[in-house]
Amino acid sequence: MESSNERFIELNRLAEAGDAVRIEKQHKAGKLTARERIAILLDKGTFVEIDKFVIHQCHNFDLDKQQLAGDGIVGGYGKIDGRLVYVYAYDFTVFGGSLSRTNANKIIKLQKLALKMGAPIIALNDSGGARIQEGVSSLAGYGDIFYQNTIASGVIPQISVILGPCAGGACYSPALTDFIFMVKDHSHMFVTGPEVVKTVTHEEVDKEELGGASVHNSTSGVAHFLGENEEDTLMMVRELLAFLPSNNMDDAPRAPYSSNMEPSSIDLDNFIPTDSSKPYDMKELIESVVDGGYFFEIQENFAPNILVGFARIEGKVVGIVANQPAFQAGVLDIDTSDKAARFIRFCDCFSIPIVSFVDVPGFLPGCTQEHGGIIRHGAKIVYAYVEATVPKITVITRKAYGGAYIVMSSKHTGADVNFAYPNAEIAVMGQEGAVNILYKKVSDEEKTKARKEYEEKFSNPYRAAELGYIDEIILPSQTREKLIQALDMTHTKIRANPAKKHGNIPL
Ligand code: HXC
Repeated sequence: MESSNERFIELNRLAEAGDAVRIEKQHKAGKLTARERIAILLDKGTFVEIDKFVIHQCHNFDLDKQQLAGDGIVGGYGKIDGRLVYVYAYDFTVFGGSLSRTNANKIIKLQKLALKMGAPIIALNDSGGARIQEGVSSLAGYGDIFYQNTIASGVIPQISVILGPCAGGACYSPALTDFIFMVKDHSHMFVTGPEVVKTVTHEEVDKEELGGASVHNSTSGVAHFLGENEEDTLMMVRELLAFLPSNNMDDAPRAPYSSNMEPSSIDLDNFIPTDSSKPYDMKELIESVVDGGYFFEIQENFAPNILVGFARIEGKVVGIVANQPAFQAGVLDIDTSDKAARFIRFCDCFSIPIVSFVDVPGFLPGCTQEHGGIIRHGAKIVYAYVEATVPKITVITRKAYGGAYIVMSSKHTGADVNFAYPNAEIAVMGQEGAVNILYKKVSDEEKTKARKEYEEKFSNPYRAAELGYIDEIILPSQTREKLIQALDMTHTKIRANPAKKHGNIPL
């Protein structure tokens, strides 16, 4: 007679094996299974599965005759670089990875555990959405997941990886998390699919064009990372986690630092063009001051006129926000405002100091921007910087004009240390615009004279330094050394905003 241990071993084997035909279909579609994905993501042999034998409780449409252990979610905990994480993966080979009430409960159990233990949670999405046969029970499951996502926001890092379809209301769980990863050609996110779009708006669009990985990484800004394939994407998740603390009470892990991690230096003192209308690549500047010259960029393809991402300075993790003069002169617009503000707030939630590099001609003018609400979007950057209580260090590398000077982590919006290079131009606007307003009716000769006078008076950092708005004027070649000093000096920063339920960021 079969012993209870043997029975368990067999049931366990069956649960883990899954349905061979459906697994083959999944592989043929160029996708991995839930278990294969988890095995790649986590440190080898560390996965502990929870609720492996959970089954759905639905009797509609004879669904009780189809029972599969696990019911479309494989979830549990394990380690990434030796640190605890929680993970759950939708299993597309079980009812298309659709969400039942019971597998929603599995997810919620993990969300609650992750919050209680103070560890990141990672969702691997590949799902047909709400389990149609379960009706409102499935919808309720989604609602409960969103609730936990929101409660955990700012307490533990939450990461979503989209590895297949993610449609309808199901998109709102990833949207509530901190970072979304997508895979080229294989992942799709949309609130309404191509068929519904066609019926309602008569637009003909395929799923890739509507909500593929490139659309969300470059146009909508919904996603933060674009992987070439599943493995590459899961490796990026591991890399991101290396920059993050496990929770809001922890510090980000400090990497061991040795002098061979000094960035390879470029001639920074001659790097920025003397002609301030000429572009340069801010990424090169960042890479020449951070450890190993390594900048882990986030949302690389979205709003490229601002750069955000993580780096290390003497092993300490910093969040970097930088205008990018190589793209549209680094002008601020609606998308750059949203991108920067969200990143600043993430760094603040998780105690990551913010280093800002500023070279900004102003806000982008025009009806598209004004009608799109640049006033309310631009205000998000001010709000995010002011509200952030982490150390804030700013380096003005060239232009800092008008409102953009103020919003880009100026002394006035709460930066702790403000540096400027000797070629910095800190003024209300550029000389051309200023002279055209102040000297409308004068001769060209007088205009040239006025331009020269304006340039001498304002196109430099000295007036701001005289007023104490710039703490130190530094040579570009001193940047790394000055950042090290400033990070060291601000390490013990204590600042709290007045007690309130929460602020009302302009959304
Ligand atoms: C139950 C589902 C399902 C679902 C797929 N399946 N989606 N079962 N509920 N939502 C089942 C299929 O019946 C099929 O079972 C198996 O999963 C694989 O699906 P296929 O269609 O064969 O796969 P594929 O051709 O790759 O297409 C995948 C798909 C498609 C694009 C995801 O299945 C699809 O359009 N599904 C419905 C998507 C949808 O409209 N969901 C509801 C969204 S609204 P068999 O046994 O035949 O192999 C929503 C509201 C959430 O989610 C609100 C939250 C607040």
